[in-house]
Amino acid sequence: MSHVRIGIIGSRFQADCIAGAVKAIPEDGEVVAVASPTKGHAADFAKRHGIPRAYTDYRELLRDTAVELVSITAPNRLHAQITIDAATAGKHVVCEKPLCLTLEEADAMIDACRKAGVLLLYAEELFFAPKYLKAKQMADEGAFGRVHLVKQGEKHSGPHSDWFWDVAQSGGGAAMDLGCHRIAFCWWFLGKPNITSVYSHMATHVHRARTEGDDETLTILEFENGAVGVVENSWNRPGGMDDGIEVFGDKGQTYADLLMGNALPTYSDVGFGYAVEKAATTRGWTYPVFEEHWNYGFPQEMRHFVRCVRGKETPIADGQTGRVVLEALYAAYASAGLGRKVTLPFRPQGVTKPIDLWKAPDLAARHLSRGLQGGNA
Ligand SMILES: NC(=O)c1ccc[n+]([C@@H]2O[C@H](COP(=O)([O-])OP(=O)(O)OC[C@H]3O[C@@H](n4cnc5c(N)ncnc54)[C@H](O)[C@@H]3O)[C@@H](O)[C@H]2O)c1
Repeated sequence: MSHVRIGIIGSRFQADCIAGAVKAIPEDGEVVAVASPTKGHAADFAKRHGIPRAYTDYRELLRDTAVELVSITAPNRLHAQITIDAATAGKHVVCEKPLCLTLEEADAMIDACRKAGVLLLYAEELFFAPKYLKAKQMADEGAFGRVHLVKQGEKHSGPHSDWFWDVAQSGGGAAMDLGCHRIAFCWWFLGKPNITSVYSHMATHVHRARTEGDDETLTILEFENGAVGVVENSWNRPGGMDDGIEVFGDKGQTYADLLMGNALPTYSDVGFGYAVEKAATTRGWTYPVFEEHWNYGFPQEMRHFVRCVRGKETPIADGQTGRVVLEALYAAYASAGLGRKVTLPFRPQGVTKPIDLWKAPDLAARHLSRGLQGGNA
C-alpha cells in the first residue's frame, strides 16, 4: 500500500479540517485512527469520518502499528510533548501552528525527530493556498521586480475554544494564534531570508474580560534582503474570517483576498447553513465561500506531507520553519513590551511563553541586556 496511514490527535476544529483534507487525497493518504481525551469525542469523530479506530489516550494511538504519521491538532501547550512521544514511537509528525511554546521545546522537538529518523512537518497551509501560491509564482518570475514590501493580515471575531484565550495554554493572544501564519507567510514569500528585526505593537482592546492575551497586533519584520513584512492580526473583527495579502515591488504589485475575494456576495432574508469560518450569521449580506479547505490549501498541504513521508517530495515547511516563526514571535512580544525594535537572533532562555515578554518588559529587557541578541544565556 503506497498511501500513508495517518493518526489524528485531537477531535475538534482542526482535526475536522485535517480529516476532510485527507479525504480529498485518497490516493496519497488515509486516516486510520484518532485520539482525544474527552469521553466519546474520538468515537464520534471516527464515526463521522469513517475512521476505523478511536482512542482516548494519544499514547495508545502511538502504539498503533498501522499509524505511520500523526497529525497533532491538540492545544499549543501539548505540541512539544506529543511530538517527542510520537518521534520516540517512530511516527512521522505533522504539527499544527504554532510549533510549541518555548524555543527550548522547539529545539527538543527537532532533535527528537532527527534522532528517531522521522520527519517533523510544520502545518503552514498558506504555503499551499492556490491564490497565494499564484502571487508567489508571479513574484518569483519577476512580475513585480524587486519585492520590498509584503503585507499579510488575518482578522476575525476570536477563537472558538476556551483554551486559546488562556495564555497559559496558548502562549499568547492574536499574535501567537494568527501571527504565526503571517510571519511564516512573509518569510516564505520572500524566499526564506533571515529576519533581522521585529517591531510590534499589541493591545487588548475588546476582550479584556475574557483574556490576558493581545487581541489586536501590528508587527513589522525586516529581512536580511532589505524587504519588509507588515503583519496585522485581530480577534476583534466580526463578520467572518478575513485573510489577505498585498505585495509591492519596484515593477508592480498584487493584492489577494483569500476568502471574501473568492466568495459569492449574497443577500438572504432567511439565512442558510454556512457562509464562512467565524461568521455569526447567514442573514443579510454575507460572503459564503466554496471549496474552503482547497482555497486554504489544506488538502494540498497534506498531499505534500504524505509524499514527503514516502520520499517523493522534500518538506517546504518543517520544524525549523516553526522555530523561525517562534523566535520572531518572542521578538514581537518583547518588542511590544519594550516599545522598541528587537534585532534577531533573539534567543531568550527559560521564558515559559512568548507573551511573558510583553507582560513583563523588565524580563524582556533583562534578556536583551544579557547579550541574548545573537547569543545564549
Ligand atoms: N492551520 C490552521 O489554520 C489552524 C486552524 C485552527 C487551529 N490550528 C491549531 O490546531 C491546534 C488545535 O486547534 P483547534 O482549533 O482544533 O482546537 P480545538 O479546541 O477545537 O480542539 C482541540 C482538540 O485537542 C484535544 N485535546 C486536548 N487535550 C488533549 C490531549 N491531552 N491529547 C489529545 N488531544 C487533546 C481536545 O479534546 C480537542 O479535540 C492548535 O494548535 C491550533 O493553533 C491551526
